[in-house]
Amino acid sequence: MKILGIESSCDETGLAICQIATGGIRLLGHALHSQVAMHEAYGGVVPELASRDHMRRLLPLLRQTLTTANCALGDIDAIAYTQGPGLAGALLAGAAFGEALACALGKPVLPIHHLEGHLLSPLLVADAPEFPFVALLVSGGHTQLMAVRGVGDYQLLGETLDDAAGEAFDKSAKLLGLGYPGGPALSKLAADGDGCRFHLPRPLLASGDFNFSFSGLKTAVALLVKKELAPETHLDENERLQKKAAVAAAVEDAIVDVLVAKAAAALRVSGLRRLVVAGGVGANHKLRARLTAAVENPGKGRTPGRVYFPDLAFCTDNGAMIAFAAAMRIAAGDSPRPAGIFAVRPRWPLDQR
Ligand code: KG4
Ligand code: ZN
Repeated sequence: MKILGIESSCDETGLAICQIATGGIRLLGHALHSQVAMHEAYGGVVPELASRDHMRRLLPLLRQTLTTANCALGDIDAIAYTQGPGLAGALLAGAAFGEALACALGKPVLPIHHLEGHLLSPLLVADAPEFPFVALLVSGGHTQLMAVRGVGDYQLLGETLDDAAGEAFDKSAKLLGLGYPGGPALSKLAADGDGCRFHLPRPLLASGDFNFSFSGLKTAVALLVKKELAPETHLDENERLQKKAAVAAAVEDAIVDVLVAKAAAALRVSGLRRLVVAGGVGANHKLRARLTAAVENPGKGRTPGRVYFPDLAFCTDNGAMIAFAAAMRIAAGDSPRPAGIFAVRPRWPLDQR
């Protein structure tokens, strides 16, 4: 059985085809277009432009996906698309395309939760983790810890009370004049920074639960930038760059410290051994290294666990995770429904069906 997956919840148009075969689920091909260059000029995603660009890209990307997967349209048995959460207009572009294509082909559809796509994406690799596991979902819109006991069995352990981790990276990067999306740029700059020069708060680090809060960090970064990097400081070019890199390192350390501490505690308290990291911030090298160290070498008297990351290509939004999540659901017994009447769900908690 072959499933076409469509992702269009924000600023990436992604399509992919997965096959459910006797040996398991295989990714046959995928194609992606990122709108980052288009939104860069505006310093963030412009929803109306995003929706229009999805409409423009969907058909060429479908052709490209069919070619890379060596499939014809008639080979597709079901169509999955991201139903939410995300930008309403962007979601509608992918949903309308998927439903219309399914109607034309006489095939059923399976709407998918975007975060479920992220959550299951680390299972796309060889040597995938088995259930159960703790998932750390860290994207531009979400920061959550979940206990995952099977497909569709997701228990929320804690989440951000305000900004998401990716948002904290992006907003801090903006304050440092690093453009959009800021996470990768901030992380690159931080690699050259003196991490001991500045210290930023670690919000809710000792709260004793699994919730996060990153909006105060943004305010602390704004104050630090104003104090250290304002034009009145008359820094020479080199000193300015060094200070910027040191602030970036302090931001990255603060975010990573909190994520690592809470994820490690969630593993301990739940008694689970496997930690799966998903979402765009999962591409962050420091987070990867620190989580691996904390979980796999937890220190005397503590049981080591194991951390799993998606391939870097599947950390940020993509179609493969949607086709794969749909294939997992169908393999677990879910039935796709007839195409035709549909709605998107811009706000949709993962533990609600
Ligand atoms: O999962 P994703 O592609 O989109 C959402 O569903 O939100 O995540 C995008 C987020 C952005 O905030 C981006 O800055 C962040 O992931 N990100 C990173 C890195 N790569 C992407 N943050 C820190 N370090 C990175 N290397
Ligand atoms: Zn995402």
